[in-house]
Amino acid sequence: MKIVVFGATGDTGIPLVKQLLLQGHEVTAIVRRPEKFALSDKHLEIIQGDVLQSSTITGKLAGKDAVLSALGGSPRQPTTVYSDGMKTIISEMEQAGVQRLICLSAETLKPKEETSLTERILVRILWRVFHHIYRDMQRMEKQIYQSNLDWTIIRPPYLTNGAPKGHYRIHFDKPVPNGKGRITRADLALAMTDQLKKTAAIRSIAYVCAN
Ligand SMILES: NC(=O)c1ccc[n+]([C@@H]2O[C@H](COP(=O)([O-])OP(=O)(O)OC[C@H]3O[C@@H](n4cnc5c(N)ncnc54)[C@H](OP(=O)(O)O)[C@@H]3O)[C@@H](O)[C@H]2O)c1
Repeated sequence: MKIVVFGATGDTGIPLVKQLLLQGHEVTAIVRRPEKFALSDKHLEIIQGDVLQSSTITGKLAGKDAVLSALGGSPRQPTTVYSDGMKTIISEMEQAGVQRLICLSAETLKPKEETSLTERILVRILWRVFHHIYRDMQRMEKQIYQSNLDWTIIRPPYLTNGAPKGHYRIHFDKPVPNGKGRITRADLALAMTDQLKKTAAIRSIAYVCAN
């Protein structure tokens, strides 16, 4: 498939691009600073674009099959990279007739009733520290629900840079029961890539964690 990746230079974006290439996809990475992107492959196209400057994304999704987003904003400052970024991505996908969207969010956005008593304290602390990010992610998710795209929102727990295990647990629309509160970015990349083949994942929130 012809896949566009946003956030390709990030800690999750890099393993994501590698995993997509490994699985035989043609990848277009839209990045702010192409000169800083270390990956190269004959099936990887790197083009410049900033999702907060919508004109730089215009027309770049034409002819593609799917968009994967591993975008992230700075944790402690107000950000609109999720909401304004996704507004641009959705608009461009609609213009180009690209239907499939797989987008990273965070497990911390799960509803209160899905959060155990012990988790609640941690979630409350995380919200206090990272509220700028989570509020903007909520705005992003809302736009995605309201779109007519074939979307999958992936809500991972704490991300680590450990070695990939090559497997993971995934549940749709409900958190993974007794899930481990972490996953490696490499396994998350595998989980995101796998969803391209799964129609069951469409218009669903996927919760993932280490196996
Ligand atoms: N850390 C955790 O434990 C955790 C847990 C759950 C969910 N998450 C979420 O998972 C996602 C990925 O995390 P990560 O650690 O891989 O993030 P990261 O390393 O901070 O990567 C963020 C990516 O977004 C790109 N980006 C930011 N602003 C952009 C813009 N205006 N236009 C285009 N690209 C832009 C960055 O590009 P540049 O290289 O140009 O900056 C980078 O490639 C984030 O949304 C994060 O909030 C994280």
